[in-house]
Amino acid sequence: MRKHLSVALASLLLTGTALAAEPAGTAHPTLWPTARSQGLVDPATEAFINGLLARLTLEEKVGQLIQADLDHIKPEDLAEYPLGSILAGGDASPIGGNNRSGPGPWIATAQAYRTAALAPRPRRTPIPIIFGIDSVRGNNNVVGATLFPHNIGLGAANDPDLMRRIGQVTAQETAAIGADWAFAPTLAAPRNDRWGRTYEGYSEEPAIITRLAGPMVEGLQGKAGGDMTVQGGHVAASAKHFLGDGGTHDGIDQGDTRVDEKTLIKLHAQGYPKAIEAGAMTVMASFNSWNGVKMHGNKSLLTDVLKGRMGFDGFVIGDWNGHGQIPGCSNDSCPTAINAGLDMFMAPDKWKALYHNTLAQAKDGTIPMARIDDAVRRILRVKAKLGLFKPERPWEGKHGVLGSPEHRAVAREAVAKSLVLLKNNGGVLPVKPGAKVLVAGDAADDIGRQSGGWTLSWQGTGNSNKDFPGATSIHAGLKQAVEAAGGTVELAADGQFHTKPDVAIVVIGETPYAEGQGDLATLEYQPGNKVDLALVKRLKAAGVPTVVVFLSGRPLWVNPELNAADAFVAAWLPGSEGGGVADLLVAAKDGKPVRDFTGKLSFSWPKTAAQAVLNQGDPGYDPLFPLGYGLTYATAKPVPTLPEESGVDAASANRDNFFVRGRTPAPWAFALSADGKTVTPGGDGEASLPTLSMRVVDAGGVQGAGRLLTWTGTGAVAITGPALDLSTAGLNNRALLLEFQGSGAPQGPLLLQPVPGQGGIDLAPLLTGGSGLQKVKLSQDCLKKAGADLKNLPNPLRLSSQTPYKLTLITARLVADPTDATCPVK
Ligand code: BGC
Ligand code: BGC
Repeated sequence: MRKHLSVALASLLLTGTALAAEPAGTAHPTLWPTARSQGLVDPATEAFINGLLARLTLEEKVGQLIQADLDHIKPEDLAEYPLGSILAGGDASPIGGNNRSGPGPWIATAQAYRTAALAPRPRRTPIPIIFGIDSVRGNNNVVGATLFPHNIGLGAANDPDLMRRIGQVTAQETAAIGADWAFAPTLAAPRNDRWGRTYEGYSEEPAIITRLAGPMVEGLQGKAGGDMTVQGGHVAASAKHFLGDGGTHDGIDQGDTRVDEKTLIKLHAQGYPKAIEAGAMTVMASFNSWNGVKMHGNKSLLTDVLKGRMGFDGFVIGDWNGHGQIPGCSNDSCPTAINAGLDMFMAPDKWKALYHNTLAQAKDGTIPMARIDDAVRRILRVKAKLGLFKPERPWEGKHGVLGSPEHRAVAREAVAKSLVLLKNNGGVLPVKPGAKVLVAGDAADDIGRQSGGWTLSWQGTGNSNKDFPGATSIHAGLKQAVEAAGGTVELAADGQFHTKPDVAIVVIGETPYAEGQGDLATLEYQPGNKVDLALVKRLKAAGVPTVVVFLSGRPLWVNPELNAADAFVAAWLPGSEGGGVADLLVAAKDGKPVRDFTGKLSFSWPKTAAQAVLNQGDPGYDPLFPLGYGLTYATAKPVPTLPEESGVDAASANRDNFFVRGRTPAPWAFALSADGKTVTPGGDGEASLPTLSMRVVDAGGVQGAGRLLTWTGTGAVAITGPALDLSTAGLNNRALLLEFQGSGAPQGPLLLQPVPGQGGIDLAPLLTGGSGLQKVKLSQDCLKKAGADLKNLPNPLRLSSQTPYKLTLITARLVADPTDATCPVK
């Protein structure tokens, strides 16, 4: 009997269908598409690498495997530590420390690290560093650069030739500051629009990603097999994030993609063969897991599929301490990742300890020599193909490359091609020649808002128009076009006009966000606080035909706004060239549109705020506007009045996110209590009692992301909402994740005490470690030990102290992966 069973199992395994006996996260390469890197391997280059490999010491080899972030390493450090790469993370500043710098300081920075790496030293073979930067929508970290629409808009434009030109411009503006490598393109297929990185993907639909991936890589790198050097104005691309980043459960950033292998291939892998065939020099491993297994440690995918089946000859770079999330690893030690196929660690801050540990692991054989040599070979290959061993850098410092008129023209074209016309009742658009136009909405004259995340700062927050010399706001573009056609423009963000307009253009939408902070509970726009809707309705009541230009990183539920407006344009996150909006909205002097809309939705638009998972081809697919929708002037049909029920029950919408980096989504709220009194913070996040207060502070480099709690005596802070039953399916496996910054050791207990006055466990042991950002996952068992009734938990977090203390809280949410959850009790 047993024998029969195992025979049956073996034959099932052979057909690749039954996976029961295998560990989760095992891929079967023969099921995957094949590909072959083009233009990376040639005999001369390999001979050159052989020569180098023969000379490098083990220390030098291990150094190549490590990348550090600008903010955490000085050029001098490279004298002792022969690292292979430097990156500029989203919030990194060039030398001198100004996060908002033009090309000058960036060039000086790239040169300083390069010179330090190449300085002649005894017993050191000089190897150039490769300098990487998040040029994800143009060289977006540098003041004055051309900023293209984020990828969601480029998916709507869906124009391969345009992509190639965008890639070229991005490469030239990146090479111009002395950088070698763009961490782009993102090939994610975002399948849940709650995900805060949805806008970084071209489309929910793999066919669109597949169409754009190759041309973008080619634009950045030059044609595979042709000139791919920095001397030619090219930079290395990084296809990211391998694999399944857009498929995480509930759209949680860095979460778990729970799909079978077929689905992983069909939805999430399709762009990679195209990028590899186009010669992509690097691939970035993803933060997410596949069926519980972290990608940074998945050998079957990184090695067997990517390097084997897909024939990838470049190198695999990790993502920002992503290796540290593998069970058994930490940010400063992770042989598992290298053994799985990672070639270079992105180790922003812990690079030094990681170097020493990796060296020890190479010496004692934990990491085999052959694996080290293979990783180094791949890294040197990319450096050689990029021309980094040659001293000439003709593009570096080239005058006027950043934000040149030719480059901005490409971006403006991209903006015009990315806009999708959702509604145009009564032909209110295009704006007629000679019209009196009111431009309203708080995003109308705000280049930071129209740019979104990954713009000068990581989250895109803290920008003002003066940070964008040479750029054009949407208002400025409209004013130019309207006046050119004989009309006038009045700008009033709040809609309070002096002269009654013939038409109002209201620019509204999401405020900037990036990773983590952009994750949403539901797709409702402005839940509980529809100020923009009120503005549109006021204009309508005043008898003004109204056009909404909607800025967003994803489709959102906007039925009330769609109803209130006569015309509605999805403009995504267009970037620096606001003039591209006017090109479509304002008619020429002769009354004819300058150009017609060609943008089509690359993401399905929801009918209710609950339709976060809404993808073409899914069973029961029922969007408001399907993938591919987009009106034109030639074909517009009126959109009827839409139902205005959001479809989400505020209480159930948000079971797991209580407080995530500055947001307390409904139905959750803070409550402070002391001495029998309870207060809740208002819209400004502030509240105070005699012994306990709360205010909003910056945290983790993000504006307004934290709440500073100051105890001067006895008091408790709680997150309150409807009682949760943690025993129900979906919640029963969750752990409570807290992120905070302490202020040293508390003088007395700081209790996690879910029920007032009862039990509690002391978190003080977690708080002795100074003022750095700390993360802790508390198990459900821990909550129980603290006195919680897991079936009836109205305060998922409640902290109580009797002695003075200051604590900045950044995150409190339930997370799906309880593996390393702890409890600070003996
Ligand atoms: C960095 C980003 C990085 C992120 C990862 C930020 O502090 O600036 O570049 O992507 O951390 O969590
Ligand atoms: C992001 C990557 C980015 C890297 C460097 C990570 O947090 O996931 O997309 O390239 O940081 O900033």
